[in-house]
Amino acid sequence: NITKPNLIFKDDLLTGENIDRLTRKLKDLGDIFNDKAAFAQMDGETVVYDVESSFPVAHGTEGGLFYGITYIHPGKVGQEYFMTKGHFHEIRNRGEYYCTLEGEGMLLLMDENGNTRAEKMIPGSIHYIPGNTAHRTANVGEQILSFSAFWPSDAGHDYGTISEKGFSEILIEQEGQPVLVPNIKQ
Ligand code: F6R
Ligand code: ZN
Repeated sequence: NITKPNLIFKDDLLTGENIDRLTRKLKDLGDIFNDKAAFAQMDGETVVYDVESSFPVAHGTEGGLFYGITYIHPGKVGQEYFMTKGHFHEIRNRGEYYCTLEGEGMLLLMDENGNTRAEKMIPGSIHYIPGNTAHRTANVGEQILSFSAFWPSDAGHDYGTISEKGFSEILIEQEGQPVLVPNIKQ
């Protein structure tokens, strides 16, 4: 039931060895949501997001670029919106672009000093993620949020820092609106 932006990412372009698809379910994301009681009530098989990526060169190649589309389903764990794990790049100074395709979201950006800010994602919005900046996206709407991403092929992903500490702020729904509040876990 995912609407694919087929003018941009045709299925027939998604064949071959260089395409990777992954699905993240609630059971894979136990450490990212703060409300453990709400999490425990939910079905671990619920899909939170899918990512389809194109790797035209080998991982670690300097000077190449990777392309991926992320589809985040609508939903919440307690007050916290469905969102991605979030990561720094392994080579910390590598940047990235995101471009929103459909839906409504928020891009959380945290620098290495732990300062978090958020950018609103709407169809067509383009987001520059500077180097040395952790990034996570949340679906704050009622339909699929999809966005394309472009990043250097030697960037790599460091998930450990975020899975241990999270972001300094979390995005929750209050009175129907997404708001950033301090992460008490930190
Ligand atoms: C690549 C990138 C995106 C994410 C994707 C899923 O550098 O930022 O393609 O990988 O949105 O999020 P994570 O990787 O945090 O699970
Ligand atoms: Zn990234």
